[in-house]
Amino acid sequence: MIIANTIKEVRLQIKAWMKEGKSIGFVPTMGFLHEGHQSLIERAKKENDKVVVSVFVNPTQFGPTEDLESYPRDFEKDTMLCEMTGADLIFHPDAKEMYEKGASTLIHVEGLTNALCGKSRPTHFGGVCLVVSKLFHIVSPDRAYFGEKDAQQLAVIKRMVKDLNFDIEIVGCPIIREVDGLAKSSRNAYLNTQERAAATILNKALTKGKETILAGETNVVKVKNEITEIICKEPLAKIDYVEIVDFDTIAPVKSIKGNILVAVAVFIGKTRLIDNFIIQA
Ligand code: PAF
Repeated sequence: MIIANTIKEVRLQIKAWMKEGKSIGFVPTMGFLHEGHQSLIERAKKENDKVVVSVFVNPTQFGPTEDLESYPRDFEKDTMLCEMTGADLIFHPDAKEMYEKGASTLIHVEGLTNALCGKSRPTHFGGVCLVVSKLFHIVSPDRAYFGEKDAQQLAVIKRMVKDLNFDIEIVGCPIIREVDGLAKSSRNAYLNTQERAAATILNKALTKGKETILAGETNVVKVKNEITEIICKEPLAKIDYVEIVDFDTIAPVKSIKGNILVAVAVFIGKTRLIDNFIIQA
């Protein structure tokens, strides 16, 4: 497995693979990899000849009071996991390599980024779109793999790829969970024992909401209230949002019909966790 720190090294390798007619799957990450990332790499491995994983904690997607400095990092472990899972190249640039002095291009996906996480993290998706489009230009993949845990991110990237004519297939992959239902996330590392137990409330509430929808409920307010009430019973939980939107446009829906995203963001102590389910209702 190749470890590349510069854009030049990645481009040279990608060109060589392309000359050999190899297809390229790409898994962008911020490192501190877990089974969720592993499932993306495995899927990429199945569907492509070569797999590139980027490990870069992207400063532009963190707000000024967010956890950029404390975001968990363990590149040695990431390298082992990538090697074990069959990645062919890790791109591990530093911030200077990715963002030259004087860089002044921004990418804004209108509409989809105003709601849900975009409301409480107004600069977040701009940073995500910027780094993902830069990575796409560097890696030139045939397919790129994103977890459905970040469902809004997935919808925003799909929109950006369409709007900017990237010739890349965006593949959304299912959420991977702990045995007790907590969605795998690098930020779970912030939780202490008590908080870790409390964090299961997100999935418990969403599971109940899903059951209600599957039983035929189409009333948005009723389902949102049900989920909210369950989360509010957990003393360590503070809701950022409970929302039901159209998965493709992230626009509010009048009733639960079509391709629906039911998403929550909840602070457990100081840690902000997100979870969701997508349902064809
Ligand atoms: O989902 C993530 O880990 C990040 O937002 C991404 C897509 C790697 C961009 O930094």
